[in-house]
Amino acid sequence: MHTTHPIQTAVFPVAGLGTRFLPATKASPKEMLPIVDKPLIQYAVEEAYAAGVRHMVFVTGRSKRAIEDHFDTAYELESELEAAGKGALLEIVRAVAPEDMHCSYVRQPRSLGLGHAVLCAAHIVGDQPFAVLLADDLMVGHAGGPGVLSQMAQAFESLGRSVLAVQEVPEDQVRRYGIVAGSPAGERLINIDRIVEKPEPGQAPSRMGVAGRYILTPRIFDLLREQTPGAGGEIQLTDGIAALMERERVYAYQYDGTRYDCGSKEGFLQATVELALQHPQMGAPFRAWLRTLTL
Ligand code: G1P
Repeated sequence: MHTTHPIQTAVFPVAGLGTRFLPATKASPKEMLPIVDKPLIQYAVEEAYAAGVRHMVFVTGRSKRAIEDHFDTAYELESELEAAGKGALLEIVRAVAPEDMHCSYVRQPRSLGLGHAVLCAAHIVGDQPFAVLLADDLMVGHAGGPGVLSQMAQAFESLGRSVLAVQEVPEDQVRRYGIVAGSPAGERLINIDRIVEKPEPGQAPSRMGVAGRYILTPRIFDLLREQTPGAGGEIQLTDGIAALMERERVYAYQYDGTRYDCGSKEGFLQATVELALQHPQMGAPFRAWLRTLTL
């Protein structure tokens, strides 16, 4: 195992239909919706790359070709930009897929749940710890600090056990998340003894909700293979993690950063406004324009 980058592979489940964003997602993948000028999936891939991951595994489905094209060479575009002397744009296009990054694609033939999607990548990941990133959750580390997956990779390096990103969520929102409970195990860390998928508010063991970032040991694959359908008739990653917890420790990590739930219109709009304000070129004029609004 590499000493500084323990996690070499990341899985991106991107087969979902994105019905909450219809009609935008009728013919285009929801992961290609842009926040300012970058598609959601690129934010997640950049976060993984910054954490040292070089092998990106996309679990795709029908009508997701745009994702494959996005991380491929855009031969015609690149040669036209080159011929026109548009060097800065050429750099932006090429930086999407750095030379030392490798992409693999595997199909999830049926919508059988997040656990099933992760299992579809098992033969590519092999017998090594790996990350799972849900691109719907756009995670922004605090200014100047490391990204959320980098923070988790560092925790994994010392623990050698699975680590889930968590945050405190309001009581009336626990039914949207996997909820964990356990005992403190160091700064920002919880040694989990319970995890439940989308509990009703009265039944939640805590208010610690799982965000869409996981570092998992490969044993999870064996457990997912044995998993029967859970909440919503789907093979839940949360249930696989509950089974994993009976065999080895699993930790929750309270990350330092902000999560935007870009699977919802509200979160998507919040991310758009906040990232536009932070944008190197757009930030100042956009802030000035926002100030002219009567709200
Ligand atoms: C999934 C997981 C859930 C987790 C959430 C984070 O749910 O099943 O445990 O808390 O992602 O975004 P989904 O949002 O896909 O319904």
